[in-house]
Amino acid sequence: MSSIAVYPGSFDPITNGHLDLLERGLKIFDNIIIAIAANPGKTPLFTLEERCDMIRTALASHPAGHRVKVDLFHGLLVDYVKTVPARAILRGLRAISDFEYEFQMALMNRKLEPEVETLFIMTGMRWIFISSRIIKEVVMSGGCVNGLVPEIVEKKLQEKLKGHNNTLY
Ligand code: PNS
Repeated sequence: MSSIAVYPGSFDPITNGHLDLLERGLKIFDNIIIAIAANPGKTPLFTLEERCDMIRTALASHPAGHRVKVDLFHGLLVDYVKTVPARAILRGLRAISDFEYEFQMALMNRKLEPEVETLFIMTGMRWIFISSRIIKEVVMSGGCVNGLVPEIVEKKLQEKLKGHNNTLY
């Protein structure tokens, strides 16, 4: 039986840090599902479909792309994980500052569904300072994020910037 992990997140947008984590995860799991949360509590820059398309494009030429599925989920993550079905949630850790939020989330998910475990992987050192939030902030302020996000993401960020006349925030 193949091992499957669900890698959930907002991915607004996906960064090279996310891709680094995905590649590390693929050394452990046969298949990974990138599950984009339709989280009504957040106001994303990109729609769910845009995020999904960017991830698919970024993975199209990836040698292990065929082992990755991109999906959306509504509601509780653990409920989605059970429908896969999978028993592992994959999350990345960059710094100690991530830990408290991740710890809370992992323990809540365990409380909600004890059969599902959360596994943490440390992000590669090259990417520890990157987050979707900071990438958006840099681009919206006119900075360059080349090499920090997939090409398609850089292009789409530029398009959003033009379309919104620099007033996204
Ligand atoms: O990339 P993010 O925004 O840190 O990802 C957070 C995410 C989407 C994994 C988390 O908010 C989530 O799982 N949302 C779904 C709702 C849920 O299950 N909440 C209970 C876990 S605390």
